[in-house]
Amino acid sequence: MSEEARHGARHVAIIMDGNGRWAKKRHLPRVAGHRAGVQAVREIVRAAGEMGLEAMTLYAFSSENWKRPEEEVSDLMGLMKRFIVSDIDEFVEGGVRLKIIGDWRALAPDVVALIEDALARTAGNKRTTLAVALNYGAQDELVRAARAAAAAGDISAEAIEAHLDTADLPPLDLLIRTSGEVRLSNFLLWQAAYAELYFTDTLWPDFKPADLKAALDHFARRERRFGGL
Ligand code: IPE
Ligand code: IPE
Ligand code: MG
Repeated sequence: MSEEARHGARHVAIIMDGNGRWAKKRHLPRVAGHRAGVQAVREIVRAAGEMGLEAMTLYAFSSENWKRPEEEVSDLMGLMKRFIVSDIDEFVEGGVRLKIIGDWRALAPDVVALIEDALARTAGNKRTTLAVALNYGAQDELVRAARAAAAAGDISAEAIEAHLDTADLPPLDLLIRTSGEVRLSNFLLWQAAYAELYFTDTLWPDFKPADLKAALDHFARRERRFGGL
């Protein structure tokens, strides 16, 4: 284990919430909050590598977020595209393997093409995996996994798990949600079975590497029992 990974966590997931409220507090349009949120993602992804995490899964767009006004959905997709284009070189250089979970192939063809290119360019990277949840809903993921397991004739917990979008990632250790909401909003419902949960009032654009460190320090102090003694 690397020196940085003494907190013991391998896989951390974050529900990045509060961009809209961050913007509202500043009398800015919601898109300004999402833009600030992208900057926070950059800093947190760098920190995840430095803190020795093997995987970080970020909730960027839920299967329910289509309910938002068309303009906001389009702003979010635009930011996503720009983020991939502008940051892909840094991922390649930094050893970050990009992974997308959720029904991302149902997104617009230009987004799908950008994602396919980014996946191919970072596929060999080993330092850390950045999994971005796009058009993701845990119930949809579970239905897809259960169908695949049934098609293979084995509906066991192991078989369902092996068909989840996260099957190639380490088990989820810590699930963080920003902005003070205490709910999972259809994120990683299966994977969260024994994850430690960490809720903070900090709005996502204000969530800094020091806040990630605080969450990992909290994790390091937890006693995980997995049902045993
Ligand atoms: C999280 O921030 C970003 C996405 C869901 C895409 P929100 O946009 O949900 O911000 P609030 O919850 O309205 O403050
Ligand atoms: C969860 O946040 C989804 C993402 C962070 C992408 P939401 O803001 O959509 O969740 P609810 O509506 O408050 O439950
Ligand atoms: Mg929200």
